[in-house]
Amino acid sequence: MKHFLTIAMMVLLALGARAVNAHQVTETSPNGNLVVRCEVRYGKVYYDVTYKGKTVIKPSLLGFDLVGKRTGEFNNFDETHAEPEPVSLCSNLRVVTTEHSTHDETWHPVWGEETAIRNHYNEMAVMLEQLEGRQMVVRFRVYDDGVGFRYEFPRQRVLNYFVIAEERTEFAMTGDHTAWWIGGDYDTQEYEYTRSRLSEIRGLFDKAITPNSSQTQFSRTGVQTSLQLKTDDGIYINLHEAALVDYPCMSLNLDDKRMVFQAWLTPDAQGNKGYMQTPCHTPWRTIMVTDDARDILASRLILNLNEPCKIEDTSWIKPVKYMGVWWELISGAHSWAYTDQLPSVKLGETDYRKVKPSGKHGANNANVRRYIDFAAEHGFDQLLIEGWNEGWEDWFGNSKDYVFDFVTPYPDFDIKALNDYAHSKGIRLMMHHETSSSVRNYERHLEAAYQLMERYGYNSVKSGYVGDIIPRGEYHYGQWMVNHYLYAIQKAAEHHIMVNAHEAVRPTGLCRTWPNLIGNESARGTEYQAFGGTQPGHTAILPFTRLQGGPMDYTPGIFEMNLSTFSPDNDSKVLSTICGQLALYVTLYSPLQMAADLPENYLKHMDAFQFIKDVPVEWERSVYLEAEPMEYVTIARKDKNSDSWFVGNVAGKQDFNSVIKLDFLDKGRKYEATIYADARDANYRTNPQAYTITRRKVDAKTTLRLRSVAGGGYAITLRPIQ
Ligand code: NOJ
Ligand code: CA
Repeated sequence: MKHFLTIAMMVLLALGARAVNAHQVTETSPNGNLVVRCEVRYGKVYYDVTYKGKTVIKPSLLGFDLVGKRTGEFNNFDETHAEPEPVSLCSNLRVVTTEHSTHDETWHPVWGEETAIRNHYNEMAVMLEQLEGRQMVVRFRVYDDGVGFRYEFPRQRVLNYFVIAEERTEFAMTGDHTAWWIGGDYDTQEYEYTRSRLSEIRGLFDKAITPNSSQTQFSRTGVQTSLQLKTDDGIYINLHEAALVDYPCMSLNLDDKRMVFQAWLTPDAQGNKGYMQTPCHTPWRTIMVTDDARDILASRLILNLNEPCKIEDTSWIKPVKYMGVWWELISGAHSWAYTDQLPSVKLGETDYRKVKPSGKHGANNANVRRYIDFAAEHGFDQLLIEGWNEGWEDWFGNSKDYVFDFVTPYPDFDIKALNDYAHSKGIRLMMHHETSSSVRNYERHLEAAYQLMERYGYNSVKSGYVGDIIPRGEYHYGQWMVNHYLYAIQKAAEHHIMVNAHEAVRPTGLCRTWPNLIGNESARGTEYQAFGGTQPGHTAILPFTRLQGGPMDYTPGIFEMNLSTFSPDNDSKVLSTICGQLALYVTLYSPLQMAADLPENYLKHMDAFQFIKDVPVEWERSVYLEAEPMEYVTIARKDKNSDSWFVGNVAGKQDFNSVIKLDFLDKGRKYEATIYADARDANYRTNPQAYTITRRKVDAKTTLRLRSVAGGGYAITLRPIQ
């Protein structure tokens, strides 16, 4: 008997199965700093997290409410599913088994902040069963820099097709932390961040959400992820999600009496949250934890929790530096529309050749050629053209189904000749698909639109989802739209097309799996500088929040801060300095970077423009030198294709004195540093174009002391001297 028990124990250990039938199981990060505990109490499942012995997430509920079924068995989809009482997947649970394992691998992204990423974690899979027989696994992955967990539903007779009424996941805070947040909204993240105590969110909510927003808000304490938090004892916590696929986007609703965040999924048009079929799983819920803010920027938790690349041949995916016929449209100097003579447009029936052009159409042959010449001369890869296709006269706010066909150019845009001209100069045009959120119309035309791109030699598209979704009642962040965005990316991959989607759901690391997703907007980008401005600090919080999920097409590089100089009706001021703009090419990582300003504005500052020409979009290594959310970010990155380094610093609302050691440089080697810095009298409101460019010799022993003004920054090129 004793012998039998020993063998049984050995088998269990070999299977990695510990603590069978126990009510409490734990897993620890590889370095031992983070510990996750999962516990079943009176049939309910909770988890908590400690960091260096301190609790950072108090016991927090796990589970779901399902839309009720008369039979109680979810083995087929029942149209009459709506029952008054939801079925709880939070109670009557017990642990069946727990499996532990360790993983350590290094993978190489197609593009990224570095060329090698270590994926090292300990895993604990807790298999749970309800009295009713339903089974659910909670899988935890515990990294040195954070925790990811998700729910998995094995194929099972009593839980086959089901509808989620609400995910009940909680994140219980240990106190009234400081949070950098944007308000809950099912359709947009294009807000400025508010820094406040958790207890202040309710009072500040209405001010934080743009008052004229037509978007749906769900609660006065609802916030979006990635959410950055800081405890009074200096611990940084970041909540987000990874690998959002076939599931609605999660926001967080704060119970501000208990200081507990609760998952709040984006509903569909009927108010349901998610439609599931087993076997299936949710995205990962992520909790980064550290006592050094720079670790949040260095963390690869979100990417690591995504699936490896699913594109076999990635040789056609290339980082892109581009310009565009764009800022002149956003600022109002020119228009997307061809004419102002048409009160409404019927695509296919409207003959644009017979209407008078307004004379303000930006995407005209002569203007596009002018941009091609400039972009090609200065080494850019691509040129984005917006407003090239028919339909812009009534594209917005009309809930119009057949709004664009994505294949018919306006009469003054010669698609063949312009592409040929661009190619003859060694650059490509970048396609633009504004869908006006008529998504069913887009899906109808997608194949033909991608084919047109292939025919003329486009290999990248900027897509956009402005306005209310058609099918009507769906939201930008619901499961239906989440599936659409991925469908557009996957179809694009079949055509070897790279995608940069604006107004899509905020990213969750899917670019690891689909690296042709080279950009997203999904936050407040530079365009708002033309709509009244964005306060300093915004670009110093984005790396902590929005950029956690993937790169942003922020469209930096504005040199002319006074828009009325070229767009007389626009009195907006860009609240930044020229050097603050240069820094963004380093501090806001993206394999897709735009020089957003007009050629004529760059011509006035060609010495500063040199940095934009020099800065790479492919990196080998990144070093995070200084960081505090919304206050300052300083990053050094090594070029993938040379031995040069580039450094960027942005300052928030206060001036910032930066002190950086260049010990990341090769020891014993000399470098020439070209330093683009705010002049002493620079000011983001009154003197934004004042900068100095200095050169000096440096090496790995050098310490640099540089000052950035509020809303400003600096940029440095470090070239080895042979
Ligand atoms: C909003 C996008 O963010 C912007 O870049 C684009 O120019 C407009 N939509 C029009 O598509
Ligand atoms: Ca936008």
